[in-house]
Amino acid sequence: MTTYAIIGSGAIGSALAERFHAAGVYAVIANTRGPASLQSITEKFGTKVEAVELDQALQSDVLILAVPYDAVPDVARRKTAWDGRTIVDATNAIDFPAFKPRDLGGRLSSEIVAELFPGAQLVKAFNTLPAAVLAADPEKTSGKRVLFLSGNYPEASKKVADLIARLGFAPSDLGSFKASGSLQHFGQPLVALNLLKD
Ligand SMILES: NC(=O)c1ccc[n+]([C@@H]2O[C@H](COP(=O)([O-])OP(=O)(O)OC[C@H]3O[C@@H](n4cnc5c(N)ncnc54)[C@H](OP(=O)(O)O)[C@@H]3O)[C@@H](O)[C@H]2O)c1
Repeated sequence: MTTYAIIGSGAIGSALAERFHAAGVYAVIANTRGPASLQSITEKFGTKVEAVELDQALQSDVLILAVPYDAVPDVARRKTAWDGRTIVDATNAIDFPAFKPRDLGGRLSSEIVAELFPGAQLVKAFNTLPAAVLAADPEKTSGKRVLFLSGNYPEASKKVADLIARLGFAPSDLGSFKASGSLQHFGQPLVALNLLKD
C-alpha cells in the first residue's frame, strides 16, 4: 500500500491534513519541531493523520513538500538517496515581501527542486490553490474543484492524479514540464485559478 507524508504543517500542510482526513486517506505529517507541536492538527484530524518525527515521515513513498521554497534544500539534505520516492512539489518560489516570482534564471522551480532529490520522481501539484480554498470541500453541486499537476514521469503523475481524485478533487494533468512550461508555476495563469469541473 502506498504511504503518504505531508512535510510541513503550516497553511498548506494543515489544508492537506484536513483533506486527507475528510477523504479517509491515511497520512503522516511532520515539521521541524516534532509531533508534540502538531497537537492542534492531530486533535482535529488524528484518526487519519498521524504526527511523526520528520525523519520517519521521509520514509514514506509519496512526500508532499508543503514547506517554504527556501526550506526544500534542508529537507533534501536529510537523506542521500531518494530512490523509489515520489516527491510532490507544492512549493512556490516567491520573493518576499514583494510577493513576486523568484528570478531563477529562466529555470522552473520544480526542475531545481527535482535535482535536490536524486533517484526520486517529482510531480508538481497542490501549489495552485490558496490554502483556504485547498482546505475546503472540493465537491460542489456544480462539480469538483480542479487541481493541476505536471511532471516528467507519467507513472508518478498517474499516482499523484489518483491521490488527487481520492481526495475529492478533479485532477488535470498538464503533462511534462517541457509540454506545460511554467503554466502551473507561481505568477503564471493556472495559479490561483479556482475551477470546477463537472
Ligand atoms: N499559503 C498558501 O496559500 C500557499 C498556496 C500555494 C502554495 N503554497 C506554498 O506551499 C508552501 C508552504 O506554504 P505555507 O503557507 O503552508 O507555509 P507556512 O504556513 O509558513 O508553513 C511552513 C511549514 O513548513 C515547515 N518547515 C519549514 N522548514 C522545514 C524543514 N526544513 N523541514 C520540515 N518542515 C519544514 C514549517 O515547520 P516549522 O514551523 O516546524 O518550522 C511549517 O510547518 C510554500 O512553498 C508556499 O509557497 C502556499
